[in-house]
Amino acid sequence: ISTEKENGDLLSKSFQDIISTLPKGNPWGFPDHFLQYHGFWHSSVFLQGILSAQQQFQAQPADIILCSAPKTGTTWLKSLTYATITRTSYDDSTSPLLSKMPHDVVPFMELDHAHFSTHRDLGIPVLATHMPYSALPKSVTDSGCKIVYICRDPKDSFVSLYLFVSKHQKSENMQTFNLDEAFEQFCRGVCWYGPYWDHVLEFWKASLEHPDKILFLKYEEMSDDTILYVKRLAEFIGCPFSSEEEEKGVPEKIVKMCSFENLSNLEVNKNGKHRVRGMENANYFRKGKVGDWENWLTPEMAARLDQITMQKLSGSGLTL
Ligand code: A3P
Repeated sequence: ISTEKENGDLLSKSFQDIISTLPKGNPWGFPDHFLQYHGFWHSSVFLQGILSAQQQFQAQPADIILCSAPKTGTTWLKSLTYATITRTSYDDSTSPLLSKMPHDVVPFMELDHAHFSTHRDLGIPVLATHMPYSALPKSVTDSGCKIVYICRDPKDSFVSLYLFVSKHQKSENMQTFNLDEAFEQFCRGVCWYGPYWDHVLEFWKASLEHPDKILFLKYEEMSDDTILYVKRLAEFIGCPFSSEEEEKGVPEKIVKMCSFENLSNLEVNKNGKHRVRGMENANYFRKGKVGDWENWLTPEMAARLDQITMQKLSGSGLTL
């Protein structure tokens, strides 16, 4: 334990040294600034978690790392992956997903597991992170473990992020950040783990280079045909559905259990609080629809985001 404490002390000391040199950005109404580290913006809590994970997290080849920028479908991906992997232990009436929220079932590398030091007790070897590809601990890319990435139309991601942050600010009796100002910051790339487009592009390029190691998913395509993508996901992570399971409708049952309608109506997700951050679980389940940005962004705002997306992704072969 004393070594862990010493490591922690060393880390905070080197963390203080690092952050004092970093560029600072508009914190969306929060007291702490965003810090720009290797091209991406982070709150200081997340950045400390990233540095700690980089130093300490030892990936194993059998690990599955779920990666995403915030508000792109992380909660959904966590539940689908967890339900798929544990399907021989639990079914849609016994799954821990019915009594725990997905973030309490699949932890975040840089938050819940930031200080593993030498022990790592993941139980089921699935872990999530919002880190950019370039910031992943070296052992993740070296171990050859599987990475699943999900992204989403930036217009919907922005709206989802803005409303998530506003709700949190209201619940903390803080003044909420103005939508136009948040939009401006998002366009400039200043948001948690932003620029959003750079986050997506790093994983996109890596997935083209290592298609056997990185599965690249889009929220919209998953919404369109969730069963197809759950089957792909199962195959990719090395536990494909057998024909007997398919006949029994196992993929369909998983999709139904993890659907927005089902998860958002569970007691734990309606009234529970996140075990680590005290955030209301209901805040992670807002609407779960493709294209809700239309209710929040003016046509000019939408056109501006589309323009940035086109410019940023141009030549990459990716469309969002
Ligand atoms: P909206 O705010 O557009 O509703 P993340 O999980 O990365 O934080 O992303 C949150 C977004 O995913 C929210 O989008 C949320 O409603 C949606 N979401 C949560 N659970 C979902 C599910 N089971 N199926 C589809 N979307 C889901």
